[in-house]
Amino acid sequence: MPARVVLGVGAGIAAYKACELLRLLTESGSRVRVVPTADALRFVGEVTWAALSGEPVTTQPWTGVEDVPHVRLGQEADLVVVAPATADLMARAAAGMADDLLTATLLTARCPVLFAPAMHTEMWEHPATQANVALLRHRGAIVLDPAVGRLTGKDSGAGRLPEPAEIFALATHLLTRGHPGTRPARDNDLAGRRVVVSAGGTREEIDPVRFIGNWSSGLQGYALARTAIARGAEVTLVAANVSLSDPAGAKVVRVTSAREMHDAVMAAAATAAAVVMAAAVADYRPATRHQAKLKKDGTGQAPEPIHLVENPDILAALATRRTAASKTGNEQVLVGFAAETDTSPQAAKAKLARKGCDLLVVNPVGNGLGFGTADNEAVVYRADGSVTEIPRGPKEALADVVWDLVACNLKLSVTPVNPDKIHRKLPGLIEGVSTWRVVCSHLSR
Ligand code: CTP
Repeated sequence: MPARVVLGVGAGIAAYKACELLRLLTESGSRVRVVPTADALRFVGEVTWAALSGEPVTTQPWTGVEDVPHVRLGQEADLVVVAPATADLMARAAAGMADDLLTATLLTARCPVLFAPAMHTEMWEHPATQANVALLRHRGAIVLDPAVGRLTGKDSGAGRLPEPAEIFALATHLLTRGHPGTRPARDNDLAGRRVVVSAGGTREEIDPVRFIGNWSSGLQGYALARTAIARGAEVTLVAANVSLSDPAGAKVVRVTSAREMHDAVMAAAATAAAVVMAAAVADYRPATRHQAKLKKDGTGQAPEPIHLVENPDILAALATRRTAASKTGNEQVLVGFAAETDTSPQAAKAKLARKGCDLLVVNPVGNGLGFGTADNEAVVYRADGSVTEIPRGPKEALADVVWDLVACNLKLSVTPVNPDKIHRKLPGLIEGVSTWRVVCSHLSR
């Protein structure tokens, strides 16, 4: 059965971009009912929405009342996406108003609800809008931070609608996550959490035209950012030399070298609940960066060797800072990634201990996997000695398992669970299994 999606459209100029989102949703096989507000039709007319969706379009519940549309649309939806979400529309949704078909649908929907705001910076930053956004998030909706860039007029700032393809990627993820055969999970277990993800590969300059780099595409890091946003997290993505479009809702900080990444990650991580270092960071950089392009000297002699010096180890620095802050209750969860040709458990455990992180995701390179591929597989080693195997699959699926484990660590640190209570709650499950692992798998469901 095709997924049933309601596309709510608010009265903003970015409504024209929602046409592309609609197209992507229908082309992927979803059945989409477009529900604009009355004023949204000033920007894009009913005929366009009806033709692109192949479904009737109304703004009020007074058409086809025998089907009780103000209740049925929301009840039957697998996903509601509101794009663009205006300040006014989010205010009405937060207040629980039901004065048109879209707000009524938002009240009756029990599926994931995704708001993609677009408005001028001043409206976005106003305390009234921020309070409404916080309330909607608190109630379980995913409200994206708008993208930063050119706005309707000559001004620029926060307020742009994220790219339709990126909203579509998030919508697809929300539709497909959860257990097969059930409605998508509405599990925003990272809501209210700030997380930092690093992605891509650093470059260490030799001269103005050459660098030492690696093959990292950033795909796994970007998948981690997208999936965290889909689970309600506030995401800062520190991206090194990646040519991918910004995940909708993420704050993206672009860097080039390992030292720049160190500074950006350390700053962003200061208040983060979790840091996932998916980036391939160069261990060394040339001791000297030549100001002018290096030339062959024409003698046929081997060139001078390039002397290397060590770069800061960002993950180890995060672990050291965490230890120093542990008295203040800093329980930041730290995750490393290791793309390896030697995937032996001994090597993985040694690296996990050396880095001082909580999880090390070890993924094999070669055999059709690794840099630039859509799929990945991994074994996750945890500091408590447990091991989780993630079979080959899309990088998004691997990312979700990593966040399951992170969420588990966060819950353990924030809400210590009384094992006695779990014994009572889960009779028969405890025997022979580590209590904490049972608690984890129970909590992260
Ligand atoms: N990492 C880091 N800073 C560095 C190097 C690596 O934070 N200077 C992080 C990576 O982002 C990754 C983890 O450490 O999450 C493991 O990276 P990897 O390159 O496998 O580890 P290294 O310590 O560099 O060990 P190796 O000798 O195997 O390269």
